[in-house]
Amino acid sequence: EKGGYDHFMLKEIYEQPRSVRDCLRGRIYPQQGKVQLGGVKEYVEKLKNVDRIIIVACGTSWHAGLVGEYLIEEYARVPVEVEYASEFRYRNPIITEKDLVIAISQSGETADTMAAIELAKEKGATIFGICNVVGASIPRLSHAGVYTHAGPEIGVASTKAFTAQVTALTLMAFYIAQQRGTITESKLIEYLTELNEIPTLIEKTLKTNDHVQIIADKFKDSTNCLFLGRGSSFPVALEGALKLKEISYIHAEGYPAAEMKHGPIALIDEDMPVVFIATKNSSYEKVISNIQEVRARGGHVIAIVSEGDTVVRDMADYVIEIPQTSEAFVPLLATIPLQLLSYHIAVMRGCNVDQPRNLAKSVTVE
Ligand code: F6R
Repeated sequence: EKGGYDHFMLKEIYEQPRSVRDCLRGRIYPQQGKVQLGGVKEYVEKLKNVDRIIIVACGTSWHAGLVGEYLIEEYARVPVEVEYASEFRYRNPIITEKDLVIAISQSGETADTMAAIELAKEKGATIFGICNVVGASIPRLSHAGVYTHAGPEIGVASTKAFTAQVTALTLMAFYIAQQRGTITESKLIEYLTELNEIPTLIEKTLKTNDHVQIIADKFKDSTNCLFLGRGSSFPVALEGALKLKEISYIHAEGYPAAEMKHGPIALIDEDMPVVFIATKNSSYEKVISNIQEVRARGGHVIAIVSEGDTVVRDMADYVIEIPQTSEAFVPLLATIPLQLLSYHIAVMRGCNVDQPRNLAKSVTVE
């Protein structure tokens, strides 16, 4: 049932061209520059007038929410707050019937996320669910929503569910933008045409696997690791760190690259690998100076770069090339080598990658 793969996690990593395609299917019309989201179409008026969106989730789904924040604010120009469901539910949050709450959950059964929804519903907010498991509790509690259609995820560490959540949020951002007129039709045609090609680019990105395995071998005995990125690559850094810690038990932290100098830089020495997401996007130059700061302190740099990059290649110990894309789609590609890196390191350390210690696939208790 692992389809020839050693672990479910690896199988699910390799399923991502298909799962992202399934999430897009029937929802984008690139030539017309149109996004269609059947699950929320009755709420078009709400979306036109909404003045705040609150995203609630836990763990990896919360990271997807952070990517969603960048996308929705950038394209739909609606203010977004992203909250840990467990914190939101206990701090008497300010919610009104004007708010839209988007709850993200692979399982659709996470106790804290459900409680956050119930609270927001009591206060009259509209609730959208972005879930993977069809008919689970969260979709049933929500007024409307979008299924991610990633298919069953067996590995405890979330991989294909994350990229499908990011895909669904990308669709949501463009859908809201389309309703509110914050994006032109020609821009939408451009973006949707590119989004349509993302599954193929994920396939290409998966070809980094052998190279990533070599890098994993060099760093498998590390005790700490930092992940740094800026913009929508910051949540990718958080996700890379979470993946590494949960399946390999290596202590890892993700930070916005610019925050490094406000503390974490003190940790950097020859034993500290630092993984940068350094693709050619708006913060490229800034990330390069962060890489130089790490190098100057003897840290080892592994960088995810855009195909053909030579500048970072000359500075980093290792680079992993991914196809060039618009900033909006970088998280969908940059996440892939980080999943592979954690996977290989965990296997090399003899860890149970599909069932890490102390973790459950669905956290139904608070
Ligand atoms: C990490 C992971 C967890 C879940 C979290 C939320 O790999 O899988 O952090 O993302 O427990 O679960 P869902 O998405 O089912 O609500």
